[in-house]
Amino acid sequence: MNKEYLIRRETEADYRDNENLIREAFWNVYKPGCSEHYVMHTLRQNPAFIPELDFVMEKDGKLIGQTMYMRAEIVGDDGQNIPILTMGPIGILPAYKRQGYGKALLDYSLEKAKEMGAGAVCFEGNIDFYGKSGFVVASTKGIHYHGEPREAVVPYFLLKELIPGYLDGVTGVYHTPQGYFVDDAEVEEFDKQFPPKEKLKLPGQLF
Ligand SMILES: CC(C)(COP(=O)(O)OP(=O)(O)OC[C@H]1O[C@@H](n2cnc3c(N)ncnc32)[C@H](O)[C@@H]1OP(=O)(O)O)[C@@H](O)C(=O)NCCC(=O)NCCS
Repeated sequence: MNKEYLIRRETEADYRDNENLIREAFWNVYKPGCSEHYVMHTLRQNPAFIPELDFVMEKDGKLIGQTMYMRAEIVGDDGQNIPILTMGPIGILPAYKRQGYGKALLDYSLEKAKEMGAGAVCFEGNIDFYGKSGFVVASTKGIHYHGEPREAVVPYFLLKELIPGYLDGVTGVYHTPQGYFVDDAEVEEFDKQFPPKEKLKLPGQLF
């Protein structure tokens, strides 16, 4: 990776370019087309959104990466809710994928989340990527995924403690914040504001 890049806070002037970046990053990856650009658009208005952890990566004056965080919680088995963060969407422009930029952006943002005092981060993702930044499968730590049986090892539900021991002795369930679920018809409508792109059914997509 050419190390010359800049990571900075997203500004309002970046919003549309970034939504397009996330659209390009996710398009046809998990399903034909994608919803993440609309998810990102709506999450910025969500009370759980954390502006201090909303970052862009710039290279040669161009935006090539984006990540953002939301406040979330683990519903503890002892009745206590434990505040954590969740992250996403994160995306790197296709031409820059698999060159180390995504890991650099993720690690930077995790460091900033840690500096803010966050105890742990949970989200759905690919352990092959996030494992390189210290994430583990959450069920191995007693944290379970909503809607899945307790005994299930959910390989895509991941966890990283930012404060060592933060979740020691904690067992409970993580619920993906509602803001990540969007209406397909609203996505379609929003997508019309972007350049036309072909939706393709490809091998390896999840949906
Ligand atoms: C996922 C994404 C952010 C990763 O960023 P990236 O810049 O491509 O990843 P990096 O080059 O920094 O990869 C870091 C490590 O993770 C591994 N990795 C990255 N993406 C991977 C993938 N899809 N599958 C398996 N391993 C992967 C790389 O091999 C690399 O390890 P190495 O340095 O030992 O080779 C980017 O590919 C992307 O935007 N993908 C589409 C959108 C998406 O899936 N976002 C995440 C949703 S949870």
